[in-house]
Amino acid sequence: MPLLASPFAQLDLIRQPEQPNEPLQAFDAADEYLLAHLAEQRPAANTRVLVLNDGFGALAASLAGQVEVISSSDSFLALQALQKNLVRNGRPFDAVPTLPASEPLTGPFDRVLIKVPKTLALLEEQLIRLQGQLAPGAQVVAGAMIKHLPRAAGDLLERYIGPVQASLAVKKARLLIATPQAASSAPQVSPYPTRYWLDEPKIELLNHANVFCREGLDIGTRAFLPHLPTNLGTARVADLGCGNGVLAIASALRNPEAHYTLVDESFMAVQSAAQNWRAALGEREVTVRAGDGLSGQQAQSLDVVLCNPPFHQQQVVGDFLAWRMFQQAREALVVGGALYIVGNRHLGYHSKLARLFRSVEQVAATPKFVILKARK
Ligand SMILES: C[S@@+](CC[C@H](N)C(=O)[O-])C[C@H]1O[C@@H](n2cnc3c(N)ncnc32)[C@H](O)[C@@H]1O
Repeated sequence: MPLLASPFAQLDLIRQPEQPNEPLQAFDAADEYLLAHLAEQRPAANTRVLVLNDGFGALAASLAGQVEVISSSDSFLALQALQKNLVRNGRPFDAVPTLPASEPLTGPFDRVLIKVPKTLALLEEQLIRLQGQLAPGAQVVAGAMIKHLPRAAGDLLERYIGPVQASLAVKKARLLIATPQAASSAPQVSPYPTRYWLDEPKIELLNHANVFCREGLDIGTRAFLPHLPTNLGTARVADLGCGNGVLAIASALRNPEAHYTLVDESFMAVQSAAQNWRAALGEREVTVRAGDGLSGQQAQSLDVVLCNPPFHQQQVVGDFLAWRMFQQAREALVVGGALYIVGNRHLGYHSKLARLFRSVEQVAATPKFVILKARK
């Protein structure tokens, strides 16, 4: 894998999760461009630099020890990658303070470097949270590969920060450089979290900015809900990749004695799921945590896993994450325990599960989706 060379450092970087058979590069030309742009300004060691949405730590690890850098992201995997990459390159794992995107930003910041995220609602929320957190003379620079840079990203910078200048393209990457305007008298109010109602069960779901299907129920989840298992008794159940928690909450309402663990790698998903659980189920005990799937779960500690698997990580689409989740579920389930999933028919999850589990049965199907039960 090529090294990331910038005026600040030369780094050997990995992604999280590692994909040993098909390793992908952990940085792109937009990272190089953002670093080169900052270096041109010769920042002093006490320059306070906020990095937002660093994919795998390329930006923050390069700046560690060079300026006062802090990194905020909505991705548990991205922050884990930053820590692993710091160690991999001879720095302490905590050389860069990190902040989940579910937490407020506290400046003042002199420079903000942003990797434009896939979900523009996250960018919008982050720009709103920057209000009042920029030092005099601050600059906000967003970078992306041109194919991942919608016009709306520039519109958001203009609206919430100030006039935007687009850079020339370099290696198919572009920067949008925003110069903050003096704070307007009326601070902009965030449109997030958004909410929608579900018909069955009748619950309202709140969704922070970066949550999957923030505007309404996913059609795969809709197909899954009527077929969630019942009569679970005191089973230990996990909602793997819980998003706003809809599967676990619907399941818990039908299984009053079961014990639930909700996991997602998005901090905003975890925040939403915890709030939604409280609203629907009050003080009923639950574990809601940010993590890399069930990697932190004890082997053979679950009876049931519910999962609507992800199909992309950042900008990369594929079934690698789903396959990993199936493997994790097998590890975490007791013998005889079951994984229930919903999947697009064309993804062929049936044969994948059959390679890992003792039996796989189709619980239900719609023209587009299948709901499968895999027993360990
Ligand atoms: C298709 S969405 C399903 C969300 C929710 N269960 C639903 O049905 O609406 C997949 C979820 O998996 C999460 N995810 C992706 N990779 C993950 C990982 N390694 N560990 C935990 N969650 C992950 C995503 O953040 C996303 O919320």
